[in-house]
Amino acid sequence: MPDLDLNIGEVRSSFEKALGDAKTLQELDAVRVKFTGKKGDLTLLLRSLGKLPPEERKTVGQELNALRDEIEHALEKSGRKIRDAENQQIELNEKIDVTLPSRGNSIGAFHPVMQTMHELVNIMQGLGYSVALGPEKEQDFYNFECLNIPPWHPARDMQDTFYFPDGTLLRTHTSPVQVRSMLKYGAPLRIVCPGKVYRRDNDPTHSPMFNQMEGLLIDQYVSFSELKGTMSEMFDAFFGRKLKYRFRASYFPFTEPSMELDIECVECSGHDEHCRVCHGTGWLEVAGMGMVHPNVIRAGKIDPEIYNGFAFGIGLDRMAMLKYGISDLRLLFDGNVSYLKGAE
Ligand code: PHE
Repeated sequence: MPDLDLNIGEVRSSFEKALGDAKTLQELDAVRVKFTGKKGDLTLLLRSLGKLPPEERKTVGQELNALRDEIEHALEKSGRKIRDAENQQIELNEKIDVTLPSRGNSIGAFHPVMQTMHELVNIMQGLGYSVALGPEKEQDFYNFECLNIPPWHPARDMQDTFYFPDGTLLRTHTSPVQVRSMLKYGAPLRIVCPGKVYRRDNDPTHSPMFNQMEGLLIDQYVSFSELKGTMSEMFDAFFGRKLKYRFRASYFPFTEPSMELDIECVECSGHDEHCRVCHGTGWLEVAGMGMVHPNVIRAGKIDPEIYNGFAFGIGLDRMAMLKYGISDLRLLFDGNVSYLKGAE
């Protein structure tokens, strides 16, 4: 017969020691199992209660119950203490120091070509133009036929144009928006049409996709000098200074007469015979333009006997390169983030 009185004292003191040693929840749980688990010291004591003579059972039973309450209470208290300490530590570790300097935000920037597009569109809006857009996947009719480009014209050549099997194509210029807009809005009309265009070209100075901005003005008694004035207003505003201009006779099926526009070299103003931008010519070709061909006006369901107008097309990628001093066209399309960040 074990001496229960003695055992109660032993269990109590060994519990107190074990509890004092437990520093983590895990260790505390081990103490709980050692004393109150199925084969725990306290459990065994409680079980042996039945073996006592009935007259002792009551007092020893009360003592044991008291010990059990004590142990459970102490375990709970200890658990709370350890949890509180752990939480405090976590709080301390995760504390946010609001006085630290921030890491800085990366907020992105417009691509130089988009920046250029916005600037030019803004300038033209200042002259009373609205923005009109058209689809990039275009019908032969709008891209060629209504622009007075007959079926045999070399511009239609498979070499230049991306065709879809159904005969539609990726527009090769923004000019198809001309007739689309005439049909939609009628005359008079003042629009600019920025957007992506596609040609079967891919070399260091040509990309199969590039950006243009079309301009179209339809009204009565429009003169070529108004086109010249509009061009010089636009490019002076874009480059931020008065430039020299040179209009050269050229040919486009959809304008008559047609011109190409050169501006003075924005890099060397014609003073550097080794200039990497104009190659010593002093001039940069920046736009194609002319008075809208009567056939095109007619295709837009406007009477060419009453209305006339001018149109121009400029390459936005080249404008971006000239304005921001970008020497390699491919940089515009590489998607190199550090380069694009530099455009901020
Ligand atoms: N569409 C022509 C091109 O892509 C440019 C242009 C537009 C010329 C409008 C005259 C009038 O080269």
